[in-house]
Amino acid sequence: MVGNVVVGQSGGPTSVINSSLAGVYKTAKDLGAPRVYGMRHGIQGFLERNLVDLDDKLRSEMDIELLKRTPSAYLGSCRFKLPEYDANPEMYDKIFALLEELEIAAFFYIGGNDSMDTINKLSKHADRIGSPIRFIGVPKTIDNDLDVTDHTPGFGSAAKYIASVSKELIRDGLVYDQKQITIIEIMGRNAGWLTAAAALAKCEDCEGVDLLYLPELPFDIDKFLDKVERLFLTKKALVVAVSEGIKTADGKYVFEHGVHTEYVDSFGHKQLSGTATYLANLCGQRFGCKARAVELATLQRCAGHLTSRVDITEAYQVGGTAVSAAFAGETGKMVILKRVSSDPYICTTDLYDVDKIANVEKKVPLEWITEDGTYVSQELINYIRPLIQAELSPIMITGQPRHIVVDIDRI
Ligand code: F6P
Repeated sequence: MVGNVVVGQSGGPTSVINSSLAGVYKTAKDLGAPRVYGMRHGIQGFLERNLVDLDDKLRSEMDIELLKRTPSAYLGSCRFKLPEYDANPEMYDKIFALLEELEIAAFFYIGGNDSMDTINKLSKHADRIGSPIRFIGVPKTIDNDLDVTDHTPGFGSAAKYIASVSKELIRDGLVYDQKQITIIEIMGRNAGWLTAAAALAKCEDCEGVDLLYLPELPFDIDKFLDKVERLFLTKKALVVAVSEGIKTADGKYVFEHGVHTEYVDSFGHKQLSGTATYLANLCGQRFGCKARAVELATLQRCAGHLTSRVDITEAYQVGGTAVSAAFAGETGKMVILKRVSSDPYICTTDLYDVDKIANVEKKVPLEWITEDGTYVSQELINYIRPLIQAELSPIMITGQPRHIVVDIDRI
């Protein structure tokens, strides 16, 4: 394949998303791509010619190592829904004209299911107009909700962070000899994979969280309060993990029962926030005890100081596989991870039609949630455990993790 490469990052970031960018960059250079361009803020930036030449930015092996260890999208991200071709053919003309001007042979997009929609639409358009440009999706999301792939890069590190801070919060809860409840709110939108990761806090030196509520099942506020009341009969300090996306049976998010923000992004996703605060306030009122809400929010997806080595390595691998695939002539595909075994943990990469992955949300199977809906099965814990293994230390300078920053000059 002769030609340049362009790569972008899209959707919510992760702490290892830049490791995929490093994998794309390094492999493209190794395979002889003359230039590797980065889109600033994904396709939205691309449409405004907001691009950087990565060859100018990544000048040494040390830069690549720093990039791998830098959390959050180095190139910047976007939540931008590409319209259907018929609704805006001019936008497609503009994208393909710029791709041709830059002599792009392959386009890579590191993202989740919404971002795969962009790869799907662009690869279909290339087919429509007979363009030889190849489009490959590189999976990424802390939510772990991409279909077909065993798991997604970004999930393992967020799960490791959640399991670790849950342990620490449980310990903190034991400090005072008094009744108290801590509610931890965890991201994941409509999929409970990340909330399930709080179950990994339970081990020989930790009792684990007392209750776990995933968005796959309707949440009953009265039943929750009754359950807490019963637990308080035998235990003083309780810790409950809830997904940001739990809903009551009427389809209303739990946080919408309280004071909340009304922000909606271009994919129509509501900003989910406030579930823990709402429930902690209810508990405080009902039980007259100390009740804290801990919303992990963006901390769980930017904790570059506690990444999983398995995750950061796989993130790099999927970037590399994407480039090798494009250079071998593939297009309209997403790289997937295929687990060969859990113990010992062995995982390989493969390709799958992006068409069948875009816009699909993979949820936690109901058989992996206990019947009363307040915990998860050992099977689910066993599925997550290998993904949080080992660490990759940040490069520490003057006591803090060093990050690589992109300067703003554009092409
Ligand atoms: O898509 C990943 C995710 O982190 C979700 O878990 C969360 O609901 C959402 O992004 C938050 O969106 P934003 O990046 O707009 O704050």
